[in-house]
Amino acid sequence: MTPTAVIVLAAGEGTRMKSAVLPKVLHPLCGRTLVGHAVAAGRELTPEQLVVVVGHMREKVTAHLAEADPGVRTVVQERQNGTGNAVRVALEALGVEGVALDGTVVVTTGDTPLLTGATLQALVAAHGQDGNAVTVLTAEVPDATGYGRIIRGADGAVQAIVEHKDASDEQRAVREINSGVFAFDGKLLAQGLAEVRTDNSQGEEYLTDVLGILREAGHRVGAVVADDYRDILGINDRVQLAEARRIMNDRLLDAAMRAGVTVVDPATTWLDVQVTYERDAVIHPNTQLHGATSVGEGAEVGPNCTLRDTGIGAGAVVINATAERAVIGAGANVGPYAYLRPGTVLGAKAKAGTYVEMKNAVVGDGAKVPHLSYVGDATIGEGTNIGAASVFVNYDGVNKHRTTIGAHCRTGSDNMFVAPVTVGDGAYTAAGSVIYQDVPAGALGVTRPQQRNIEGWVERKRPGTASAQAAAAAKAAAQDGAEEAEGAASTTP
Ligand code: UD1
Ligand code: MG
Repeated sequence: MTPTAVIVLAAGEGTRMKSAVLPKVLHPLCGRTLVGHAVAAGRELTPEQLVVVVGHMREKVTAHLAEADPGVRTVVQERQNGTGNAVRVALEALGVEGVALDGTVVVTTGDTPLLTGATLQALVAAHGQDGNAVTVLTAEVPDATGYGRIIRGADGAVQAIVEHKDASDEQRAVREINSGVFAFDGKLLAQGLAEVRTDNSQGEEYLTDVLGILREAGHRVGAVVADDYRDILGINDRVQLAEARRIMNDRLLDAAMRAGVTVVDPATTWLDVQVTYERDAVIHPNTQLHGATSVGEGAEVGPNCTLRDTGIGAGAVVINATAERAVIGAGANVGPYAYLRPGTVLGAKAKAGTYVEMKNAVVGDGAKVPHLSYVGDATIGEGTNIGAASVFVNYDGVNKHRTTIGAHCRTGSDNMFVAPVTVGDGAYTAAGSVIYQDVPAGALGVTRPQQRNIEGWVERKRPGTASAQAAAAAKAAAQDGAEEAEGAASTTP
């Protein structure tokens, strides 16, 4: 059954997060914000409308939602007067001229990121089957402190929800808690909200009171107990945020391993929800895969990799690397100690080796940049080898320029390619050259000053040093060797 609306409550400040810059619901967790997770779970119900109630730091929350899910409608709750007030504000915005919404209205909270679409679906299904006015999602938790308690009668039927602060000792002993997630009959929800008062310890309009109000009016009230209490953990401080991250990460790793990925050390491997992978991929310890990173079949990543929005081709090997918005071709080699910045595209079997940084660089199939180099704003043709310690000099202090190196080139070590410059197919360059003019195909580019040796300089200018002594000893040995060779020659019959 498709709900008419899903309402996500996200107007609260989240005081216990103690943040000067972020409202609670914008704290990140495995690649989405807390409210982003709530919206994604709500979306799985394919509701006609998805509404988020915003309040505290609403500009930030609204701007974020417009980007994360442009189909979301935001409704402003001016004063955070309680969850009941928040839902009423949403209903008033949704209903046409005071006419309440028909059908099922689901209410969730922006601070319950572990709630899955499947759990929401189970709630809505039970709500419809039992013909309830309201169905609350509950769970038995090890520590119920702070949560609203589910009060059941002798017959086991739910009678009311009592907030922790308003509960008696006897009620506080109950471990079944309110998740803050409900399915309502839209019309009865509006009726119930009209009767909610503020005579409680917090002086707020509690959404939870609607349940008791509807029950007393003779309507059916039901509850669905979540299979896994962790689904409904609410995030109120950063300790709970870290706990939720661990739980969500474990779920993501479980799914990856069950799909055929080897995760060598789940304790130090972190995934975002958007990460994709194929079978026989291996993830080594201390590796974080963020955003829309994808790991191809049989690829090996890690140890010690932090990759964001990066595609890794089948069979590629990536060790000790940091990458963002890069594409690593099939069978390519990266690292150890490589930094691939946005716009890096490595072809099949290409290499970005040790202490290599790349940015906006397209490296052809089988081309290699093995050691100690910076490749910025460049195109390197297939099968080319770039000598160690080369720098693509792309920046003139104001503008960036591009270097193009052809296919099957062999550039010498310690080259500076002063862009814009082009090296033709099959060309070579000499070690130590500063290549500031184009090199034609098949040519050898050299810009190297003549070497001059000043004989005896060290013994004259640095007498008595270890260097001078070593030089003198080497010369004496060479002299002896020459004499011996002469002697041997003269005794030869
Ligand atoms: C609420 C429930 C409690 C439940 C718990 C589950 C009520 C009265 N209490 O308590 O029974 O066990 O969630 O996590 O509903 N919000 C608004 N506007 C407001 C107040 C809150 O939008 O005026 C939003 C918050 O941003 C948050 C959600 O509603 O996303 C819950 O508010 P919070 O203050 O965290 O309620 P709890 O005390 O946790
Ligand atoms: Mg809460």
